[in-house]
Amino acid sequence: MNDNEKNIRNDFIQRLIDKHGINRTALLPVLQDFQNEFGFIDEHSIQMIAFALDIHPVEVSSVISFYSFLYDKPMGRNVVRICKNIVCEFHGSNEIANTIKEEFKINAGETTEDGKLTFELISCFGLCDRSPSMMVNGNVYENMNRESALKILRNLR
Ligand code: FES
Repeated sequence: MNDNEKNIRNDFIQRLIDKHGINRTALLPVLQDFQNEFGFIDEHSIQMIAFALDIHPVEVSSVISFYSFLYDKPMGRNVVRICKNIVCEFHGSNEIANTIKEEFKINAGETTEDGKLTFELISCFGLCDRSPSMMVNGNVYENMNRESALKILRNLR
């Protein structure tokens, strides 16, 4: 990242601090707004946000790791999540996950080379009674199987 890109991010972080305040409860909304603007929260900005809120950068990174909707690396245009918990696994989530790996030639936690899709395995969506479930760009699909998942994923742009 060059100095100009850093300055743009620094200015934006300052505006977020002006908006949300310097209380540590501002951390989550600052991270969300930052990501909405830049797509993910880079290492430089993690340091700057931590400095602005007077907290340790590790704490900022921990919050990003804890919330599956926050990213510290570039994500694909589409983010596909499959539940890896035992209930969904029992109902076939593994088969869907394997289908995604084969179709897009990526493993969990990876993004396709063309930036079209990021695939993640995450814990329970809270839809265990309609498992296996799949989340695509925040939309939830229930009672999935290999064919229904592929139909949705092949229509992604
Ligand atoms: S176990 Fe998969 S949604 Fe709850």
